[in-house]
Amino acid sequence: MPCPPATFATARLTARPPHPDDAPAAFATYANDPEVTRYLTWKRHHDVESLAVFFGQCSANWEKKEGQLAWLLFLAGTSTLVGSIGVTFEPGGKAMFGYVLGKKFWHRGLTAEALTFLVDWSLTQPEVFRAWAYCDAANPASARVMEKAGLVREGLLRRWQICPAFGPDPRDCIVCAKVK
Ligand SMILES: CC(C)(COP(=O)(O)OP(=O)(O)OC[C@H]1O[C@@H](n2cnc3c(N)ncnc32)[C@H](O)[C@@H]1OP(=O)(O)O)[C@@H](O)C(=O)NCCC(=O)NCCS
Repeated sequence: MPCPPATFATARLTARPPHPDDAPAAFATYANDPEVTRYLTWKRHHDVESLAVFFGQCSANWEKKEGQLAWLLFLAGTSTLVGSIGVTFEPGGKAMFGYVLGKKFWHRGLTAEALTFLVDWSLTQPEVFRAWAYCDAANPASARVMEKAGLVREGLLRRWQICPAFGPDPRDCIVCAKVK
């Protein structure tokens, strides 16, 4: 499996792996917000403790270099947490991305900035041929983020993913990818 940088920086962001101590800030910024988590595959966190447990699992993933590798994103030069981005390396040369940003940081191009960096990095890896992501078909902002990061829309994955906020039935998702 490729080994991504544990930390990285873009023009306006710095990124590092989450730690359980980050849970209060992440809870307040995005993980407890019903609007932010509406189209996500994970349920909104209702307490800081469950998020701290999740961040502990994230740390373990980094140690073992397996599963989803996640970063927290901060405004460069500050300790202001803005959101999170993650990658999962899948068999057959695929890197799948997911991201979330606190509402007050939307519409500044920050997610596209972080995704662009990681997509481009992943495709420099000899064993990665496809950088891809998907989003709920009713989430055009996320689809636009993918396009801004150079991913090309490939189609609609029908009944692909359950969004817990909408109930138990799988929903249609837009799939985008950049390949080499
Ligand atoms: C989706 C999300 C990550 C976008 O983050 P962001 O930092 O605001 O994204 P960017 O500023 O990089 O780009 C957003 C683009 O979507 C566009 N956009 C925003 N709302 C839109 C809408 N309702 N319809 C169409 N386009 C929309 C913006 O205009 C912008 O494109 P532009 O720069 O060409 O104008 C953020 O809204 C978020 O975290 N949402 C909740 C979690 C989520 O849905 N994550 C993705 C799961 S797949």
